[in-house]
Amino acid sequence: MSETPTPRRFTASGPLRGTMRVPGDKSISHRSLMLGALAIGKTTITGLLEGEDVLATAAAMRAMGATIERGDDGTWTVHGVGVGGLLQPAQALDMGNSGTSTRLLMGVVASHGITASFTGDASLSARPMGRVIEPLSQMGAQFTPSPGGTLPLMMRGCLPAVPITCRLPVASAQVKSAILLAGLNTPGITTVIEPVATRDHSERMLKGFGARLEVEEAEGADGPERIIRIHGDADLVAQDIVVPGDPSSAAFFIVAALIVPGSDLRIENVGLNPTRAGLIDVLREMGGQIDLLNPREVGGEPVADLRVRHSQLHGITVDPALAPSMIDEFPVLFVAASVATGQTVTSGLDELRVKESDRLSVMATALRAIGASVEEREDGLVITGTGGTPLAGGGPVTTHLDHRIAMSMAIAGLASTNGVSVDDTAPIATSFPTFEKMLLERAS
Ligand code: S3P
Repeated sequence: MSETPTPRRFTASGPLRGTMRVPGDKSISHRSLMLGALAIGKTTITGLLEGEDVLATAAAMRAMGATIERGDDGTWTVHGVGVGGLLQPAQALDMGNSGTSTRLLMGVVASHGITASFTGDASLSARPMGRVIEPLSQMGAQFTPSPGGTLPLMMRGCLPAVPITCRLPVASAQVKSAILLAGLNTPGITTVIEPVATRDHSERMLKGFGARLEVEEAEGADGPERIIRIHGDADLVAQDIVVPGDPSSAAFFIVAALIVPGSDLRIENVGLNPTRAGLIDVLREMGGQIDLLNPREVGGEPVADLRVRHSQLHGITVDPALAPSMIDEFPVLFVAASVATGQTVTSGLDELRVKESDRLSVMATALRAIGASVEEREDGLVITGTGGTPLAGGGPVTTHLDHRIAMSMAIAGLASTNGVSVDDTAPIATSFPTFEKMLLERAS
């Protein structure tokens, strides 16, 4: 991302209309590159998200020996080195803003006999890594993190690593995936127990690449849980992958169309994996008119086209059990709640405090600055909406190197009287480099 902040003002827009597509899913894009690099043979990837986070993963896999190229038609090819075949990188791996790259790659390195250093930007260097350091240390990897268990960090993988059984202490697909990836090159069976289901792209894709992986739904002491077992010493086989559109990117346009009067927008090819689609259920419960058209499967993932029409939303109490299936969508849900009728209550969102920014505090501050009524609680926000009246607007609001804050506040600007100034739009390039161009095209 650009070192110099790029401020911008987003003003009230006309209706969002027409048909659009959002770029490829970020989670699936990271995993395509990683698994392609660990497979034998040539993997092709169509629809890869070319955002900075994913490019950081590509650079890291290249630095560890994989050959990764982009063709002129936008198709990416990965020539993998095979599980266990990664080389020691000659330089520190610069992860930029990307928590997913960092945590998943720490898992990959953990069962290779190599040393690697991980660095990142100010946001990433403040994020907790203890959650992956702990299980990966049990598998035998050694870590020298910065004080507080953060980046910059040096680690030494362990060959052979030791299989573990880990019950996830936090609902985190990144932690789950790090352990499963480490398990690929570990003898025996590595087991992850998830008390709360998180996005399951790793499980689907590991199976797709030929790993032996079993998922069991079981009754635990505190309710249902998922037990995921991966068999080690795996051989992965190269695949042809088609990446569906990212529901977390579509979310900004879904909310924009719902809150800007007169909108009727079609968003094609949106990934609707049930572990990701919570926002749609919540927005429909709030009265949002969202139709799912032409449901189908793309690359082993459920996908549909969405038709979204302007709707007067009403506040609800959001079931905290839905949080993992919409964990990245809360900032933009808070924007929708700010112009809904009545109160929206969210809870169980402690994890939002350790994302690219503290998304509870940063969104509360930003929304208040543009005239919204927000109460910040320990684990959620309570928002009293305007009932459809535009927010006053203002700013500049501070995004703290967080792409989803910048995009959410841009959408808030569309439904404001005076526009919303965002202090820095540069972080948007980490996940959705074409966001502003697409917004200009749709909202004129
Ligand atoms: C991701 C998992 C989530 C999510 C992130 C992407 C992934 O993080 O917020 O944007 O690709 O596994 P956590 O595992 O920290 O919840």
